Amino acid sequence: MTNILCIGAGHVGGPTMAVIAQKCPQHRVVVVDINEARIAAWQSNQLPIYEPGLEELVRATMNKNLFFSTEVDRHMAEADIIFVSVNTPTKTFGQGAGKAADLQYWEKTARQILENSKTSKIVVEKSTLPVRTAEAMERILNSNGNGLHFDVVSNPEFLAEGTAIRDMEAPDRVLVGARETPSGQRAMQAIVDVYAHWVPRERIITTNLWSSELSKLVANAFLAQRISSINAISALCEKTEANISEVAHAIGLDSRIGPRFLRASVGFGGSCFKKDILNLVYLCEYYGLAEVAAYWEQVVKMNEYQQARFVSNIVSSMFNTVAGKRIALFGAAFKANTGDTRESPALAVCRALLEEQAKIVITDPHALDNACIDLEDVAKQVIFEPDPYAAAKSAHAIAILTEWPHFAELDYQIIFESMVKPAFIFDGRNILDHQNLFNLGFNVYAIGKPPHVHFSKDNWEV
Ligand code: NAD
Ligand code: UGA
Repeated sequence: MTNILCIGAGHVGGPTMAVIAQKCPQHRVVVVDINEARIAAWQSNQLPIYEPGLEELVRATMNKNLFFSTEVDRHMAEADIIFVSVNTPTKTFGQGAGKAADLQYWEKTARQILENSKTSKIVVEKSTLPVRTAEAMERILNSNGNGLHFDVVSNPEFLAEGTAIRDMEAPDRVLVGARETPSGQRAMQAIVDVYAHWVPRERIITTNLWSSELSKLVANAFLAQRISSINAISALCEKTEANISEVAHAIGLDSRIGPRFLRASVGFGGSCFKKDILNLVYLCEYYGLAEVAAYWEQVVKMNEYQQARFVSNIVSSMFNTVAGKRIALFGAAFKANTGDTRESPALAVCRALLEEQAKIVITDPHALDNACIDLEDVAKQVIFEPDPYAAAKSAHAIAILTEWPHFAELDYQIIFESMVKPAFIFDGRNILDHQNLFNLGFNVYAIGKPPHVHFSKDNWEV
């Protein structure tokens, strides 16, 4: 039996360890966190995160070989392998503020491991980190002089929220990076062996430490770049009557480009894309690569432009004012199948429309609690309504901000009849049947497509 410990019971720590526990019944897996409420939630019937398939998995393994605890020190002492999956947000102060990764939680963890260890251990970087973080980690851990040895291995996580369990169970690849020393290679093999319980060996790739650390930042940067690229073209489509769905389909059939991640939208959200690109930008600046830094920073700027463009389209289409108008925001989560609202474009759009003095009502099947917390400072100005029909009642406009399939299945005839006329729909995810909505009487605006409006062009372009 191997004692596996994960530090950080968040969106990564919880789901990844639940899968490891299920696939490796001979190992004991403990997940610890300093957040007592979070640990209590993992132990309850109401898990702290919404993720399809997670509840069943946790129920099947909990208290058999999967345990959640706040006793960080004790479990550190017992562990053979420690995955560190704490948050690594963007630094908000001092040098590198706004771009560099804030590694304070990370470094505290390294020191705590050192204090509590009586045996040598493998420490695994599961969090997303700047390239060469392992070097600092090794220096702290091996500064003990008490004969213990710590191997630091990089094993970045590529799961996406909403599909976390599927991504863990059948990953495109697992990446393990380690030092090219005998001890480093033994540690790497121990991590490979864990995954080899269910991942085909050819999908587990091994590299040096720095390639592994950097590959994680680069993977996220490339994914986000595809979204910013298609969103940039969506703006051009709206000026030229080209249709972004047709363009995405046409280019995606080229096997060199591929069809995935080409859905134009109100912009990408989530806790990682922006933070990881800005971290990459900071690293490039740090190493004196100004042109490379500017190239990647543009991906984030384009995303901000897309969100701002969406809001100004709403305002200009609704006769240049939304003050006092009720606007129903369909979606708070940053994507479908999650309750996570971190960096959600829905919240950015909400704030921008509040600035325009619109009356905002938000509906979402799983993210209203988080939205309420994130919008705490403006909560008095926002109505949180779980029922989309009630949210749309007496509204002047609906804006689709999360691609929940449920939003495409609503009865828009009923919704249209309950709204103030002229009724508007702004589909920030291109998930609705726009022609059908137009036929029902809506004025419909989508991303990267010609609008379907009941006014003549002269009247509508104010
Ligand atoms: P999260 O905020 O959901 O969870 C992190 C947890 O770590 C929190 O519960 C926090 O209380 C805990 N923590 C912080 N310091 C601690 C300490 N000293 N001891 C014990 N617990 C501590 O974050 P997350 O979304 O799980 O992300 C974790 C890391 O994984 C980040 O580096 C992120 O970039 C990366 N990542 C995230 C995703 C994702 O989909 N969310 C995917 C891949 C990689
Ligand atoms: C992303 C990556 O996909 C994961 O591989 C990575 O592990 C993770 O970040 C991370 O490091 O945190 P995630 O942010 O959970 O995963 O979700 P994605 O599916 O990548 O979506 C991110 C955002 O892009 C969402 O707001 C989504 O709606 C948007 N998106 C995605 C688009 O606007 N268009 C697309 O075609 C795809």
